[in-house]
Amino acid sequence: MSGSVGDRIASLLQEKRVFTPPASFSAQARIKSMDEYRRLYRESIEDPDSFWSRHAEELHWFKKWDKVLEWEEPYAKWFVGGETNICYNCLDRHLSTWRRNKAAIIWEGEPGESRTLRYLDLHREVCRFANVLKSLGIQKGDRVSIFMGMVPELVVAVLACARIGAVHSVVFGGFSAEALADRNNDAGAKLLITQDGGWRRGKIIPLKETADAALEKSPTVEKCVVLRRTGHEVPMREGRDFWWHELMEGASDKCEAEVVDSEHMLYLLYTSGTTGKPKGVIHTTGGYMVGTYVTTKYVFDVRDEDTYWCTADIGWVTGHSYIVYGPLANGATVVMYEGAPNWPDPGRFWQIVEKYRVSIFYTAPTAIRAFIKWGDEWVTKYDLSSLRLLGTVGEPINPEAWMWYHTVVGKERCPIVDTWWQTETGAIMITPLPGATPTKPGSATLPFFGVVPDIVDREGNSLGPNEGGYLVIRRPWPSMLRGIYGDPERYEKQYWGQVPHCYFTGDGARRDEDGYYWIMGRVDDVLNVSGHRLSTMEIESALVAHPAVAEAAVVGRPDEIKGEAVVAFVTLKGEYQPSSELADEIRKFVRQQIGAHAQPDDVRFAEALPKTRSGKIMRRLLRDLAAGRPPGDMTTLEDFSVLERLRQSEE
Ligand code: PRX
Repeated sequence: MSGSVGDRIASLLQEKRVFTPPASFSAQARIKSMDEYRRLYRESIEDPDSFWSRHAEELHWFKKWDKVLEWEEPYAKWFVGGETNICYNCLDRHLSTWRRNKAAIIWEGEPGESRTLRYLDLHREVCRFANVLKSLGIQKGDRVSIFMGMVPELVVAVLACARIGAVHSVVFGGFSAEALADRNNDAGAKLLITQDGGWRRGKIIPLKETADAALEKSPTVEKCVVLRRTGHEVPMREGRDFWWHELMEGASDKCEAEVVDSEHMLYLLYTSGTTGKPKGVIHTTGGYMVGTYVTTKYVFDVRDEDTYWCTADIGWVTGHSYIVYGPLANGATVVMYEGAPNWPDPGRFWQIVEKYRVSIFYTAPTAIRAFIKWGDEWVTKYDLSSLRLLGTVGEPINPEAWMWYHTVVGKERCPIVDTWWQTETGAIMITPLPGATPTKPGSATLPFFGVVPDIVDREGNSLGPNEGGYLVIRRPWPSMLRGIYGDPERYEKQYWGQVPHCYFTGDGARRDEDGYYWIMGRVDDVLNVSGHRLSTMEIESALVAHPAVAEAAVVGRPDEIKGEAVVAFVTLKGEYQPSSELADEIRKFVRQQIGAHAQPDDVRFAEALPKTRSGKIMRRLLRDLAAGRPPGDMTTLEDFSVLERLRQSEE
C-alpha cells in the first residue's frame, strides 16, 4: 500500500469522536437502535432466505421466485425463477396508489429552469419512449448506449430500456469520443441516445459532436436519438440520427412492461480496473432491484414526505442506484440538478436545498472539501433547516471534512451516513443506519444486512483489530455484479481469484475494536480522483499514444480537494525536448483520449523511468516523489540517478 495509505491509518487511529443519532431521529426511524440493527443483521446472516424474501415481497413480481439464492462460486443467481420488471416497480407500482400525483423528479437546469415530473408523467414519458425504442428496432437483450447530461430524459431513457428488457449502458457525458466508441464496441450497442449539448458552468458540453466522432468508430451502432436541450445547431445524419421530440410526437403512451427473468441483464456500466481496458460490469434485474430498494429504505430512511437529493451523475453507479432505481422503487421524490456546484456561484447546491426544501442530501467528499475551500458563507447564507439526513460516498472522508459537514451543513442535527460500496457491489455495503448506528468521523462503520465483510491477508486469514489488510466480502449479496461483459475470465480472476473464496474489493481497510470499518483506499493500480475510478494503466496507454511520448508511468498524489491527483512521469522520444507547452499538449491529449476527469494534473519529464532490474517501474518511489514535492518547472528533467541505490534495495 502506498505511503498515503499508511499516513491515513496513522491519522485515523487518532480519531476517537463518536456521534450517536439524535433521539428525535431514532424515534421515527425504521431501525431505531443498535439492538434492532443487530437482530435484523443476525437474521440476514442466519436465515437469509427469510430476510430477503420478506423484503422482496414488498415489490411486484409477475411470478414469485422458487429459490432465493443459487450459489456456484463465483456465480450467483438471486430470486431464481422469479419474473419481474424493475421499471414496473419504479413506476407502475405507484400508479395504483396516491403517489400517482406525487413528484417523482424535480429537476433544475443549470441556467435555472425547473421541471417537475409526477409519477404519472414519468410513467407516460417512459412508455412513449419505450415505444420509440421498439420502433427503432430495439428488442429485449439489445444493448443501448446512453451519452447524455443530467436531464430528466436521461432517466426516461434508462427506464424505457428497462421497461422493454433492453440493456442500458450509460456512458458519463464527460468521456471522450474515443472512450465512448470503446464502450459502444465492447457492448455491441445497437443504438446511441444522446443530446445536442448539456450545460456546465454556463458553457455547452458538445455531446452530439463527441457522439458523432465516436459513431465513426462504432460499427454496431445503427441509429442515434438526439434530444434537443441547448438548441445549438448540430449536424444530423439522414437515416441515422433522429430527433427525440419528433419520434416522441407520434408515440403511444401505452406500453406494457416486459416480463423478464430475475437474472435478466439490466445494465452494463463500464468502470476502470487494473488493466488498460475498462470493464463492463453486469447487473441483472431481481437482486439489484431488491438490493437498491432495501438499502435506500434503511440507509436513507426515505419517507413520502422527504425530498431526496443525490448529487451524483447518472453516468456513475451512484446515479443508477441512488437517483434512479432505489429511490423510485421506494416512491421517493428525487431532486436532479443538471450543472456544476459552483455555477453561477459556489452557493448553488445550498440554494437548491433551500428552494426545494431538500431533506436528504447525498454527496461526495470531494464536493465537501471544495465547499470548505470556497468558504462557509456560501453555505450559511441559505436556509438549510429542511435537511434531516446527510450522506457521503465515493472515497474515504477525512474527519475534518466530516466535522465540517456535520456542523456547517447539518448544524449538528443530521446524522451522516458514510456509505462504502462500488460499481460492482451495486448497492451500499458498509454504512451506518441513521437512527441506530453511532458514527465515528471517517469510518463507514458496520455492514449492511446480508453483507459479510472481512479484513484479510493474501491467504484469506482474518486479521485482528486495527490491523490493515484487504477488504473482502465473504458471501454473495443480491445486488452483486454477475460478471464482466464478454470476459468471464477477468471476472473470475479479478474478483474471486485473489483471496480464496472471497470477493476481492481492491480496497485496503482496517476494523477497529468495535468492529467498525475504516476504508483506507485502493491497494491496486486504481486511482480515486474526486470519487471517480481511474486506472493508471488506462492513462498510461493514452499517454504513450502521443507521438512525443516514449514511456509513461502514472501515479496518484494526495490532493486536498480531489482526494488524489494524477501525476504522469513521461520520457520523450529522441527528437522531442521537454517544455511546458508539450506538457500541456500531453495533458490535453489524455483528455481527448479518455475524458476531462482523467487529464493529468502534472506531467513530469524524466530521462528514464526508475525500474527494478526485472524491468518493473518502481511505482512506490514515483508516488513518494509525486507526493513529496510540488510540481516544479516543467522544463527540467527528473533526475533519477540519485535514486539508483534505492533500486538495489527495492529488488
Ligand atoms: O475505494 C472505494 C471508494 O470507491 C471505490 C468504488 O468506486 P466506484 O466503483 O466508482 O463507485 C463509487 C461509488 C459507489 C471503492 O472501491 N469508495 C466508495 N465509497 C467509499 C469509498 N471509500 C471510502 N469510503 C466510502 N464511503
